[in-house]
Amino acid sequence: MRSRDAAIERVVAATRDRVGDHPALSGVLDGLTGLLHDVATQWSLVLGDVYTEGIGAPVIAVEAAGEPAVLKIDRPGAALAAQVATLTAAAGRGYAEVLAADVERGAVLMERLGPSLASRRLPPGAQLDHLAAALRLAWEVPLSSPAQSVATGAGGALLDKADQLSGIVRRFRRPDDAERWGPALDRADELARHLSASRGGIPVVWCHGDPHQGNALQSNGIPRFKFVDPDGFGCEAEYDVGVTLRDFSRELLTRDASSARDWHDGLCEQAATATGTDVQRVRQWAFVERVTTGLYLRWFRDDETAETFLDSAMLLAPTA
Ligand SMILES: Nc1ncnc2c1ncn2[C@@H]1O[C@H](COP(=O)(O)OP(=O)(O)OP(=O)(O)O)[C@@H](O)[C@H]1O
Ligand SMILES: [Mg+2]
Repeated sequence: MRSRDAAIERVVAATRDRVGDHPALSGVLDGLTGLLHDVATQWSLVLGDVYTEGIGAPVIAVEAAGEPAVLKIDRPGAALAAQVATLTAAAGRGYAEVLAADVERGAVLMERLGPSLASRRLPPGAQLDHLAAALRLAWEVPLSSPAQSVATGAGGALLDKADQLSGIVRRFRRPDDAERWGPALDRADELARHLSASRGGIPVVWCHGDPHQGNALQSNGIPRFKFVDPDGFGCEAEYDVGVTLRDFSRELLTRDASSARDWHDGLCEQAATATGTDVQRVRQWAFVERVTTGLYLRWFRDDETAETFLDSAMLLAPTA
C-alpha cells in the first residue's frame, strides 16, 4: 500500500512539473491524488511511468491485474465523453481498446500500445500511408453508434467543423499579424467558409478529429498503427485526411515557395488516393488546419512551433 502511495505521489509530481502554471491545464491537478488512489484500487493497478508525449493530463503505463495497460486521466466533460464513446464503439479496431472507464471522474484504462508514429521519424510519404491505413479502419465506426448520441456539446452528431475553424481564425488573429501572415489568415478564413458552404451532399463518416502522427501508436496487428485521443464527430472523411497533412512545416520551410507547393501537392494526391477521398477538399482542409493549428499553438504559448505552421502556410497560400 505504501508503494502505491509513493507511486501516486510520483505521478502527481510529474504532472505538476509538466502543467506548471499554464492556465489551460491547471485544473488537471484538482483531486488527482484521490482519483488515482480510487481507480488504482478499483482496477487493481500498479502505476508505472508517466508518458511525456502528451500535453498535460497524465497518461500512465500501468499493470492492470498483472497485464500491461495505460491509464489516461483527463478532465471530465463532453470532450472526454465523446473520446471514450468513440474508442468504445470501435472495440479495438483502428483505435486503442478500452478496458474500463469512469467518464464522470475522468479516467480511462486502455490497451497499451507502442511508440507513436511521430517518434519513429519516418519519411512523410510513409507516415501518410500508415495514417491512411489506420483511418480507413477507424472510419468503420458506424455513424449511428452510441458515440453519436454521447458526442453532443463539443462535438455534436454532425459538426460544421469548417464553420468552427473559420471562427477560430477570426477570433485568434491579432491586428499585428497582418504584415507577416495576413494572406495565409485571409485564405484560411475564405477556404473554411467555402468548405462549410459546399458541404451539402458530401458523405459523412465518424471522424477521429485529430489523427496526427502523435495520436497514432504502434500496434502488433495490421495496420501497424492504432489511434488514441479521438475528438469523435460526424464530418467528411476529407477533414481527417487534411489533419494528416498539416504537419511537415519544417520540411516545407527548407524549400522555396514553388517547390514547397509541388511537394505538398504530391503529398495531398498520395493521401487522397490512399483514402479514396477528394484531393481538392483534402488540400483545402489541410491548409485551414495548418493555419488554425498555428493560431491554437500560439494561444497555447508554443510560439516557436506556431510560427513554423504559419510561416509554412504563407508558402502555400497563393495556390491553397
Ligand atoms: N493506449 C496507449 N498506449 C501507449 N501509449 C499511450 C496510449 N495512450 C496514450 N499514450 C501515450 O501518451 C501520449 C498522450 O496521449 P493522448 O494523445 O491520449 O493525450 P493528450 O494528447 O495529452 O491528450 P488530450 O489532447 O486529450 O489532452 C501519447 O502520445 C502516447 O505517447
Ligand atoms: Mg494526443
